[in-house]
Parts: sequence; structure tokens; C-alpha cells
Amino acid sequence: MSIKAVNLCHVYGQGTALEQYALKNVNLEIEDGQFIGLIGHTGSGKSTLIQHFNGLLRATSGELYYNGENIYAPGYDMKKLRSKVGLVFQYPEHQLFEVDVFSDVCFGPRNQGLSEEEIRARAVEALEQVGLDESYYRQSPFELSGGQKRRVAIAGVLAMHPEVLILDEPTAGLDPKGRDEILGEIEKLHRERHMTIILVSHSMEDVARYADRLIVMNRGEKMFDDTPRNVFRHYKELEAIGLAAPQVTYIVQALRKEGIPIDDSLITVEEARDAILRLVGKEPPAGDELQAGEKAPAESMPPVGEESGRSDGAEAEDESGASGVPDAAGAEVSDSSEQEDRK
Ligand SMILES: Nc1ncnc2c1ncn2[C@@H]1O[C@H](COP(=O)(O)OP(=O)(O)OP(=O)(O)O)[C@@H](O)[C@H]1O
Ligand SMILES: [Mg+2]
Repeated sequence: MSIKAVNLCHVYGQGTALEQYALKNVNLEIEDGQFIGLIGHTGSGKSTLIQHFNGLLRATSGELYYNGENIYAPGYDMKKLRSKVGLVFQYPEHQLFEVDVFSDVCFGPRNQGLSEEEIRARAVEALEQVGLDESYYRQSPFELSGGQKRRVAIAGVLAMHPEVLILDEPTAGLDPKGRDEILGEIEKLHRERHMTIILVSHSMEDVARYADRLIVMNRGEKMFDDTPRNVFRHYKELEAIGLAAPQVTYIVQALRKEGIPIDDSLITVEEARDAILRLVGKEPPAGDELQAGEKAPAESMPPVGEESGRSDGAEAEDESGASGVPDAAGAEVSDSSEQEDRK
């Protein structure tokens, strides 16, 4: 087990008029090597939660363990924790500060006390992984586009070779090709180096494709914690909290309404394509198998609401009136005052 949160609570501005409960009694355990999608409406507590995982924010109450050790115990080595649990911020500007791209990416490994040769090798490797070639090395990170800044921020964390990689909306500001490249690299690190990944995302398609476990936050509480397939069965409840299921889920539901017997646990475009091809008597294309998030075969499907992955014990919402408006990418910029010693 790598990360364990016990009754984790976080209150911003405690004791002031602006007191704000951002996390309420969050309990979870993240096993080594998992690929976790963390979703939730704007302001649900995702960024607050992940900043606890590497000790940037301290819980108001509750405990947090990394590899069985309580990180709030006196004398716990927070610096070491931060190099093992790498966090890529929601806003890359919060993470970049060196004069040029190469120096910025070297910062983490240098802080780890590695040799100059190893530092440079790590930086080159990390920049390659995020698709930035030598022409970027001497540019100021602040003169790059949003998507390029994001790549530099990701490289800076990768260069530390963390055990756990946490990415807070890493694809915001990237074009579709850039998004696929970055997520593809992350998936590769997960597959080849068994890196534990926590991906905060507003894209249901992305988490459906890559994550093998989905944690849903709602108003500071953990609402669901299950496989993407099981969580998306609750799409009506997700809609009620401003989220949605992947688009494919809606197509499948519409087909079923028309009496077409398609498995309603399908959550990716590839799965739906294959199922539709089989329905019309054609074989799906070979060599284009399911992606990372679809490791598990589609199980037989209970009706929505029958099997609950819900972790707050609440019952399914009434289906009527759910609007199904997908959440927009984080509009709210959190105060960075508690994030200053981030590296
Ligand atoms: N530095 C801060 N000071 C005071 N309140 C904060 C601060 N950062 C976050 N909050 C509040 O805590 C709650 C959770 O915020 P958080 O940033 O964790 O949400 P989020 O799920 O990451 O949202 P988003 O999807 O918009 O990024 C929100 O109500 C937010 O207003
Ligand atoms: Mg956030």
C-alpha cells in the first residue's frame, strides 16, 4: 500500500469568517501500481486532497500514511516524501520558476542530491518523454504556450523518478494530439515502470480509457470509489452533481431504449464500436484491442442503481430532472499561498 488517508479533513481559513470545509472525513487507500482517476465538480476538493498526498497541505484533522508511515509523525522526512510522490500542479505557472526549461527540469533531481551527470541525463529523458526537444532547453518557461508550460511542469516531476505520480488536470490547455501524447506517456510509465498514477480530470473519456479505479469527490466527500465501469453505471447520480458519464454511455443507453441488445457497461468508443460491429454480424478489427481502462472484461450488467459503488452510503437519485451538463474545466483559481514550498 502506498497512500492511506484516515478521516482526512481540511478546513481553509479555520476560525475566520471565511472558514471553508474542503475535505470531510475522507478515507481511502491507494495500492502500489494503481491508475486512479479522481473526478468531481469544480470545488469538490480534488486539488486539496492530492496536495495532502505529498504533504503540501496538512490535514486539519485525520491521518495520512505513506508506505505505512504516518507523515504527520514528528521528524518525518517531508522532503523525501515530495520526491517520491510527485505532484504536477493544476496551474503549471505555480511550478515553474527557473530561467530556462532545462534548469527548471533539473531542479528536482538536483534537490535529490544526484550527480551533475545523472541530473542532466534525467532532465533529457524527462523532456523527451513529454515531447520537448533541444530547441526548448534554453527558452524561458514563462515564454512558452500553456500546453508547453504544462509539459515542462510534468517533465520536472518525472525527472525525480517518483513512485507515485499525481497529475492535476494535466491535459487542460492541450490540443487533442498533445493530450493523447501526454496521456500515452503516462500510461507507458504506469505499464512499464509500474508507477502509481493519480489523474485528476474533468474528462470522463480520459478516465474511462486509462484509469482502473475511479474516485468521485462531491463537496469534499468521497462519493464513489470503484472501477470506472461500475461508477459510470451511476450516471444519473453523477449528472445530479454536475458530472456525466462518457458520451458512449449515452449512445449505448439510447440504443437500448430502441430495443437494441447492446451491453450497457461499455464505456469507451472502442468497446462500443466492437459491440456494434458484432451486433451487425461483423468482426471487430484485430490488433486494436481495448485500452488501459478496459482491462477487465465487460461483466454482465445489473440495471443502473442496483449495484452500488457508492461510498457515502446514499441512495440513488431520482432519475427525473438530471440535466447531464458536463462540468467545465476548473474555472476557479485557488490561492497559492499554501503551495509555496512546492519543490
Ligand atoms: N487556498 C484556498 N483558500 C481558501 N479556500 C480554498 C483554497 N483552495 C481551495 N479552496 C476552497 O476549497 C474547496 C475545494 O477546492 P479545490 O481547489 O480542492 O477543488 P477542486 O475539486 O480541485 O476544483 P477544480 O475542479 O475547480 O480544480 C473549494 O470550495 C475552494 O473554494
Ligand atoms: Mg482543482
